[in-house]
Amino acid sequence: MCGITACIGTDESVDSLLDGLRRLEYRGYDSAGIAVKNQAGISLTKRVGEVSELVGAVERDPIDGTFGIGHTRWATHGGVTDNNAHPHTDESGRIAVVHNGIITNYQSLRSELESNGHKFESETDTEVVPHLIEENLRDGATPEEAFRAAVGRLNGTYALASIIGDEEAIFATRSGSPLVLGVGEGEYFLASDVPAFIQHTDQVVYLHDGDFIIARPSGYEVTDSGGRPVDRPLKYIEWDPETATKGGYEHFMYKEINEQPGSLRRTIHGRLNALSGGVELEEFPPGTFSDVEQVHIVGMGTSHHAGMFAASLLSERGIPAYAFMSGEYAVIKPPVTENTLVIAVTQSGETADTLDAIRRARAAGARTLALTNVVGSSITRECDDELLIRAGPEIGVAATKTFSSQVTALMLLTERFVEDITGNKSGVARDVMDSLARLPGDVQEVLDTSNAREIAEEYQDSDSYFFIGRGLAHPVALEGALKFKEISYEHAEGFAASELKHGPLALVTPMTPVFAIFTGFEDEATLSNMKEVQARGAPVVAITSDPDGEIAEFADHVLTIPETHPDVAGITANIQLQLVAYHAAKLLDRPIDKPRNLAKCVTVE
Ligand code: G6P
Repeated sequence: MCGITACIGTDESVDSLLDGLRRLEYRGYDSAGIAVKNQAGISLTKRVGEVSELVGAVERDPIDGTFGIGHTRWATHGGVTDNNAHPHTDESGRIAVVHNGIITNYQSLRSELESNGHKFESETDTEVVPHLIEENLRDGATPEEAFRAAVGRLNGTYALASIIGDEEAIFATRSGSPLVLGVGEGEYFLASDVPAFIQHTDQVVYLHDGDFIIARPSGYEVTDSGGRPVDRPLKYIEWDPETATKGGYEHFMYKEINEQPGSLRRTIHGRLNALSGGVELEEFPPGTFSDVEQVHIVGMGTSHHAGMFAASLLSERGIPAYAFMSGEYAVIKPPVTENTLVIAVTQSGETADTLDAIRRARAAGARTLALTNVVGSSITRECDDELLIRAGPEIGVAATKTFSSQVTALMLLTERFVEDITGNKSGVARDVMDSLARLPGDVQEVLDTSNAREIAEEYQDSDSYFFIGRGLAHPVALEGALKFKEISYEHAEGFAASELKHGPLALVTPMTPVFAIFTGFEDEATLSNMKEVQARGAPVVAITSDPDGEIAEFADHVLTIPETHPDVAGITANIQLQLVAYHAAKLLDRPIDKPRNLAKCVTVE
């Protein structure tokens, strides 16, 4: 959680930092701050609220400097106050630090520093860092030595960037929290994520845990904790900087929903041979998974729902597969063998629970595979193998295009598993692959014709919103409810359609619209469930590909999806539900891209 950024060598350091923070706001947005270095020392401004509050404060009372650091916060230690906002400084105000992560031994360090006379201004874990640096400087260390020695005292997770004394340099490091370096012409950027500086440069260095970076206007160096140089290649990011902006849309979420035909094309591109219907995964040639006996899929939130979808699909195709919430996986510790493949599904590649689950799986001897959107993310370094979903940057906190790309990539992987594990190129798969090839066009059709806005209007005064589905439509129901509650703040729950009469039916009234997902899988049973809730007065919105059939005849409203294979229909059904959630939240005037209390990337357990 939290976004950090830094720049040196740029012409407009304040503008560059504020712009970077705006683009990192999806990581946390309860307070923000910047510190810049100038002739007089360090100038610092921080404010409770979104980055716009900080921008307003800087406009009213401008600060200037040649280089600096910035932070947008999602509070963990200490309430949401100006004092707890980053950057944090020492008493002299000559050292400033921003931090993402949690320093677990901060209390003992704080007591030690307080007994040495240090005065603390905040309740944060971070504030120990500038004081530790200051103490080291007082003992005669150079800024670099002081920074390294301070970091050497820390336990926990961190990405840190700091300004120290009069040294014209940014000192930074990472361990367990993301940090990337952007390399421009004579200008250097550090940030939790690439969108912070993509408008300045597309040259990136992905840093590893334990790396130390010193960036100066003359260049940068990456070293290990002992100061030995480490070689980190410069990579080129193939994004149009526009992809990290709203591009004329009112919200990132709506833009990202609408980007799905393109993002899905990228997920599939070169991986699905439209002629043969075969899957060609460059990363995984045939036979790669022939030793696999069972598959565990771990993830959180939306990624868990994609994992549930894939586990059901694999089971349906005869491969033992189970989906777990990563946070639970680490606790339950299901038995694994070297023939167990554990797949980590994670958009960001930085979710703490998922990283933890993978570490435990590896320690127990399992083989691991990362399915992620972020090149060079922590999960790609923790897993044996990786498959990128290629959805492009997703800024809205509520995941949309990454869910459809995760499911699609998992469907392609499923095909490889089926071939490798069962040795069977089944006939069904060919239909599925044909439907996947048509998916981007089908999604476009949904986007062009959806009546989701009218449905959202019709039911905007309801008490609760329920979502039901069977088989592969079950995770789609859970995801539909998650999206709805995340951004509208209305009560929404997803259930397996079969579960409904075992409890949730007690809550059903005329004020609880039920979204029933029909994907061609045991639709008759779901139709009975639909009638059960209607008998209790609840209106039903059916998501179906047959607007003239029996389902539509009985439903109160219909959201139509194109006719396709039942295994693929959940993806287009989900897009209708993304649109319903978006329009419901918009009618309620919610801050759609930045829902309260949430963050896109949860780097704490
Ligand atoms: C948070 C986000 C969700 C996301 C989940 C997992 O809860 O708000 O949108 O699905 O984390 O994130 P990941 O990056 O691992 O997919």
